[in-house]
Amino acid sequence: MSFTVRIAEPHDLDQIARLSDRVFRSKRTTHMAEEFPHLYSPHNARHWFVAEDGGQIRSIIGAMVWPAVIAGARTRVASVGSVATDPDYRGQGLASRLLYLAQSQLAAEAVRLMLISGDLPLYLKFGARSIGRVDWYALPRNLAVAGRYSIRPIDPQDDAAIVARLYQTRSTRFGRTLAQLRAMLVAQPITQVERGVKVALLVLSDGVPVSYLILNHRPFQGVGASRLSEWAGDPKGVLHALTQVSDWPEQGIRIPVLREDLAMQGTLYPLKPDRRGPVSWLVKVIDGVGLASDLAPIGTEQAAQPPRVLLTAPDTYAVEFNGQRWVVNAAELTEWVFSEETAYRPVPLEAIWPLPSLWPEGLNYI
Ligand SMILES: CC(C)(COP(=O)(O)OP(=O)(O)OC[C@H]1O[C@@H](n2cnc3c(N)ncnc32)[C@H](O)[C@@H]1OP(=O)(O)O)[C@@H](O)C(=O)NCCC(=O)NCCS
Repeated sequence: MSFTVRIAEPHDLDQIARLSDRVFRSKRTTHMAEEFPHLYSPHNARHWFVAEDGGQIRSIIGAMVWPAVIAGARTRVASVGSVATDPDYRGQGLASRLLYLAQSQLAAEAVRLMLISGDLPLYLKFGARSIGRVDWYALPRNLAVAGRYSIRPIDPQDDAAIVARLYQTRSTRFGRTLAQLRAMLVAQPITQVERGVKVALLVLSDGVPVSYLILNHRPFQGVGASRLSEWAGDPKGVLHALTQVSDWPEQGIRIPVLREDLAMQGTLYPLKPDRRGPVSWLVKVIDGVGLASDLAPIGTEQAAQPPRVLLTAPDTYAVEFNGQRWVVNAAELTEWVFSEETAYRPVPLEAIWPLPSLWPEGLNYI
């Protein structure tokens, strides 16, 4: 069979949505396109990549492009998901080809990083790497949090601007518009039916909004531990709100905390994490030259000159810093820039890297 791999067009979205539902929603009655309205919108068709044979789409990859702020520096990232191949067409390299097509198209749109949900060998071969570690805490039911907090459900229309403002306080974040945020909050009830309830709460202190949170509550049709999926603002307010959840799940409430998140780590002290693990997504630097230029403001805070990154071959870079030069592939560069646990990073570069990692959890795919 001779497959064409290409960028999707708006008229492909019906087939894309049907293939997505066949692969990801076969045991559910909800539809991917309704759960993720921005991803499946005709406006986003050019960020879908498809393999087609005789007019039939057999493999797909979807992406959303986001402006992002990493530790104060502006860059662009793509969150990548809905990676699926028709079961009859797997193992022929279709998804791999689409990953490389996505990379070249996204890099041409000044996207520097691909964030891929999941951790398949397929993605590791592509050069994506795990870059962050998460400490998992179980919230004690009787935890008392001092403070004059009150909570109320987030109203998608009236509260979107407040939520956006609180989200802006995160030093590493996506550039979500108000319209995207509203659509995300409105889309939540669609997932309630079969994936548990998504609880979105605003926390106020003396009547002033100080934090918000989204809890993936009773995620598997009422069973399973609830999981904090997104939050910003005062971490103490978030903990207070969680202790107020009335229908406490039998398996409890779990809080994933990035290692770098000292504010939440400090608030949870002296509790100890009961599990440590990688974040549930991988990252690949797809334009190291552009990334280095975007992140140069951070580099110059620590060193007279930020590192220079040059492309020497596809997915291969030379890194120059303090008169020294190293050649790395895209996977190594990704680890050097973002991972605390890379097997090797030259000592001089430890002065500037790793940077705090990203946090695309929650509803960022919408
Ligand atoms: C994951 C998935 C998208 C892969 O699609 P695919 O088109 O089969 O992917 P590829 O053919 O490029 O790669 C699959 C495997 O076949 C191997 N392969 C690639 N080209 C091949 C070829 N010509 N002949 C034989 N095997 C080949 C790859 O090395 C890869 O091996 P690995 O799993 O050990 O990495 C597909 O299995 C799927 O739809 N799964 C269900 C949905 C899912 O889990 N999606 C991911 C969500 S995170």
